Amino acid sequence: MSEFISKIRTIQWIDNCSRMVDQTVVPYEFKYVDITTGQQMFDAIRTMIVRGAPAIGIAGAHGVVLYAMELAKENLSRDEFVKKLLEKADYMATSRPTAVNLMWAVEKQKDIIKNSKSDIAGIIEELKQNGIKLENEDIEINKKIGDYGAEVVPKGASILTHCNAGALATVGYGTALGVVRSAFAKDKTIQVFADETRPRQQGARITTLELTMDGIPTTLITDGMCSYFMKKGMIDMVVVGADRIAANGDTANKIGTYTVAIAAKYHNIPFYIAAPLSTIDISIKTGDEIVIEERSREEVTHINGKIICAPEVNVINPGFDVTPHELITGIITEKGILRPDYNNSIREAFNK
Ligand code: MRU
Repeated sequence: MSEFISKIRTIQWIDNCSRMVDQTVVPYEFKYVDITTGQQMFDAIRTMIVRGAPAIGIAGAHGVVLYAMELAKENLSRDEFVKKLLEKADYMATSRPTAVNLMWAVEKQKDIIKNSKSDIAGIIEELKQNGIKLENEDIEINKKIGDYGAEVVPKGASILTHCNAGALATVGYGTALGVVRSAFAKDKTIQVFADETRPRQQGARITTLELTMDGIPTTLITDGMCSYFMKKGMIDMVVVGADRIAANGDTANKIGTYTVAIAAKYHNIPFYIAAPLSTIDISIKTGDEIVIEERSREEVTHINGKIICAPEVNVINPGFDVTPHELITGIITEKGILRPDYNNSIREAFNK
């Protein structure tokens, strides 16, 4: 890992608050913000100061700690404290609807609240420690994903990625970009094509920053260009992240991922998902059950505050799409690379 990326901790519990990189201003600025209340955390997740499925999971876990610290000041009985905190945790889990890591991490905190035998101060300490544990585990898991994924990266490969599933979408290292990082550590001749990723341009703003800071050769392309480069034989594989994976392997990821997967299938190019098991929602059978976030019209009608279309035009802005499992070559997890039939391989991974 380069100096820069090895120092990045996208989100961290420190000094009794949650410190995070403000991703709304990357790459113009690189600054940290301290989130000190539960409501601030809800807003930080919703407005995408923190973003990326694993990162918002940790943010949700921290948010529960912040709510607990606030409720502790209200002189509640232990029972009232627990009841109100569970309600606040449920509220935190609604800050964004698609990435299941958020609900997963909040559930982990709810388990602590429900099962703790401690007093209020003790519960808060247990929640803090659990948040820190989840943070550290995230980096370890991403490195495992990276190492498994590197095994399927051909020598000298050109890898296409969409959106940002990197260090800044996680606590550190990244999932899809973790695969890129691990592959680059072994083979300096690989390179990345990064889709711009309209409308919020996480590919252009965040992925290109991360990769170039790591010295990984990167070419920025706009979203519509991927099939052009695939036809020219310039893409060897695709690796993207995920926000929620159903029990059959159907995968929700940033809007535009499905288009990339169709183009990859047509051109016979392997298409991989890289994600931790916490992104797999075995409670849903298929991707049809995944709630897709609808975001504001301004994200589409404006760029850098300037309108780019007829002011009255209709706009629809789904934040994610679902790639059907038939288009996915493999799902790279911390337990290895899962292959079709995903109903079986996912079940086996959870049992490992
Ligand atoms: O809307 P975002 O920026 O939170 O969406 C992020 C993505 O779609 C990522 O690909 C996904 O969360 C995986 S991050 C490791």
